[in-house]
Amino acid sequence: MSDELLPIELLPILIVPDAKLRQKCRAVGPGDADMVRALAPRMLATMYKAPGIGLAAPQVGQLLRMAVVDIQKEDQREPLVLVNPEIVAESADTFTREEGCLSLPGQYADVTRPARVKLRYLDLEGTKREIEADGLLSTCIQHELDHLDGVLFVDHLSALKRNMLLRKLAKDMKLRQREAM
Ligand code: NI
Repeated sequence: MSDELLPIELLPILIVPDAKLRQKCRAVGPGDADMVRALAPRMLATMYKAPGIGLAAPQVGQLLRMAVVDIQKEDQREPLVLVNPEIVAESADTFTREEGCLSLPGQYADVTRPARVKLRYLDLEGTKREIEADGLLSTCIQHELDHLDGVLFVDHLSALKRNMLLRKLAKDMKLRQREAM
């Protein structure tokens, strides 16, 4: 019997205003290797199921500098596991794109960020990697890295817009709870 055949247990995704979403995460160390290797496939499965294109460890309650990303379609999966990711360079020109977040279900807003970034990270084997990202991947990486510092996409909006969005989320979640009863 291969345990690859067992379904991967999905993780519950924390929703704003959960305090864990506002913490600065600590770096993954050598002692975390087993934990991170176990966590990565569960985070990917949880992200695909949601569905989403990025998920950061604090969104599943783990305050570690780790995220998973996949901007490809279901039949062309290209999972990226980012351990201790760091943006080492970013373009001066910016790009505005509509963002959402699995921790703010149903809420979307335009966010302006650097158009391109250079990212340094460790993969699951602990190998140092560097990639340059533009387009959707660049946006997604920057969004996920923000999570590792307790920053949400709504923090890039004006206070007025942010509060409107957070109030709408609170209302939506209350409605959902009522429907679930
Ligand atoms: Ni997010």
